[in-house]
Amino acid sequence: MVRRFILAGLFGALAVGIVHGQSFPLDATPTRIAFPKDFATTFQRYDMVDKPDRKMVRFLYVNKDALAKVKPGQPFPEGIVLVMADHDVALEAGGNPIRNPQGRLVPTGRVKAVAVMEKQKGWGETNLFPPEKDNGDWEYASFKPDGTLNMVKLDNCYACHLPQKGLDFTFSGEKIYAAAPK
Ligand code: HEC
Repeated sequence: MVRRFILAGLFGALAVGIVHGQSFPLDATPTRIAFPKDFATTFQRYDMVDKPDRKMVRFLYVNKDALAKVKPGQPFPEGIVLVMADHDVALEAGGNPIRNPQGRLVPTGRVKAVAVMEKQKGWGETNLFPPEKDNGDWEYASFKPDGTLNMVKLDNCYACHLPQKGLDFTFSGEKIYAAAPK
């Protein structure tokens, strides 16, 4: 646990806390993750997941230096950064997603949101989550396409990824194992 320093009083959304040197609204979850700004060109894309109901394709990326250390079946190495970039898809006049001849959705290139999870040594011991909600040494962050942080509650990230503990808290871990150099 890390001490919180409360700067501004109890004025709801105006209240600010400082954690790890950054200031946050008190109802937001602090994160130590910095925006991996060149992920689209320097990371390895390891999967694309069509989400027709949400009219988007999720591009999944991993940083290459960490990928080189990935061992199938083992927890992911410290220093790994996973990026999930949600892309808009091409729509028909009626608003339904267009499918290509392979049945896949067609991303437009416009990114709607960027979710990141990163694992660093010691982060699990120093985050603000109680042990039963802890995701090991992973932290989560949500960014706007321009790389600015969405200062929001991240409890849902931790809660939904928690049951994936067997795959080191990831959903697409098997795809990362498959992308690792043999
Ligand atoms: C309701 C469940 C749910 C919540 C909440 C959720 N995720 Fe995920 N996340 C998933 C699923 C499922 C996938 C696999 C991709 C897919 O099928 O959409 C995923 C994949 C990811 C990935 C790619 C690595 C992996 O685990 O496969 C990242 C990074 C990620 N999520 C970050 C976040 C962040 C950051 C938040 C909170 C802002 C968040 N997630 C909230 C369900 C969730």
